Amino acid sequence: MNRGNFGSSIGVLLAMAGSAIGLGNLWRFPHLMGSNGGAAFLIIYVCFVFLLCLPIMFSEFIIGRRGAANTVRAYKVLAPKSQWHWIGIMSLLASLLVLAFYSVVGGWTLNYIWKALRFSFTEGANFTEMYHLSVTSTADSLFFSIFFLLVTAGVIIAGVKNGIEKWAKILMPALFIIIIMVAIRSLTLPNATEGLKFMFSPDFSKITGDTVLAALGQAFFSLSLGMGCVQTYASYVDKKDNIVKLSSMVLVSDTLFAIIAGIAIMPAVFSFGVSPEEGPGLLFVILPDIFSQLPFGGFIAIFFFFMLFVAALTSSISMLEVLVAYVIEEMNVKRVKAVFLTGAIALVLVVLNSLSQGVLSDFKILGYNMFDICDKTSANILLPLGGMLMVIFVGWRLKKSDFIDEITSGGNVKLKEWFLNFTYFIIKFVAPIVVAVVMISSWLL
Ligand code: TRP
Repeated sequence: MNRGNFGSSIGVLLAMAGSAIGLGNLWRFPHLMGSNGGAAFLIIYVCFVFLLCLPIMFSEFIIGRRGAANTVRAYKVLAPKSQWHWIGIMSLLASLLVLAFYSVVGGWTLNYIWKALRFSFTEGANFTEMYHLSVTSTADSLFFSIFFLLVTAGVIIAGVKNGIEKWAKILMPALFIIIIMVAIRSLTLPNATEGLKFMFSPDFSKITGDTVLAALGQAFFSLSLGMGCVQTYASYVDKKDNIVKLSSMVLVSDTLFAIIAGIAIMPAVFSFGVSPEEGPGLLFVILPDIFSQLPFGGFIAIFFFFMLFVAALTSSISMLEVLVAYVIEEMNVKRVKAVFLTGAIALVLVVLNSLSQGVLSDFKILGYNMFDICDKTSANILLPLGGMLMVIFVGWRLKKSDFIDEITSGGNVKLKEWFLNFTYFIIKFVAPIVVAVVMISSWLL
């Protein structure tokens, strides 16, 4: 079967970076850092990204490209007649959960575009209240999150290559420039150094098992790792493309984005006297406040939220694609039908998640509402677990020669012997143990 491919290496890079860079960097990272003690969280996060997640990303890439199929079938191809494909099934579940709450936040970005278009961010307005009103309102929340899901589905039907890739090429660099501008403005506010201190001078006494797990979960989340996303995209990647280079570039750009987003937000948080522990609303409270004080802020706000929406979209399509690729291949249906089917299932969850911020906020399981459950179970359990099983698969089930063949793209990419051995060692021993220890100790501590 012709599964379709990416047009070029640069297309692959953009699609993968598009998947990685999203609300995770600009919305989730700042608020997690805010409520987990700032600098200590940042340091742990960066260590996880570079030392642990890079080899895990290689592994997921290898499974995807070598298996050349959807996230479940890839395991069946590489390890016939075994139970490994359950990792793939777990990936499907994780994609659905992430997509469900992601669409709600994606809806907030649309809501804020709408507000920006009406120039609602006036100086001195109560932005905290504005945020709370928007997310708890049933009509607003449902309308915008469903709209976000529909756009995601629409793009997936139209095909990724010609639509979103072209847009992402223009809009992602633009987003980068705007966030740097906002960061500069934020740094020149009174008391900005307090925010920098919070981000860069660590207080290690604040570290708990939960902080470490939150940092690990965020590293997976931000890199789209551990739920078949990288794998599905990798299955469309040319056999000659350089896995090591692609993964490293995605990783560096993603991390840079997150840190700059932090610099854009934290100094302003301290300058405006907001608590960094404000939670998920942080981005949506602080940035409108900054925009309201900038010359031409009204227009910058429109651009910014529009680009935030695009960044979210290039990520949400990568989640839906995991499910769609599976349905197309396993149920033998056309793309359009597969999108309708998976979209309908996602819709039910999106509605529940969206209402869980308002009318259903009292419906809690173990003290968490639906939104928090989807967010926390996926990032703190399913993604790390998925990633751990993937490295175990590559380290213990595949042969070392297969690992080397795939990571060097069949000998096309020259890699140093020590690099190969070192990476293999991390994949085989270090990564599974570290992930397991972090997860288990955070449950016990
Ligand atoms: N990485 C994206 C972000 O930071 C979100 C995302 C896309 C994701 N695909 C994923 C998260 C797969 C977890 C798993 O916004």
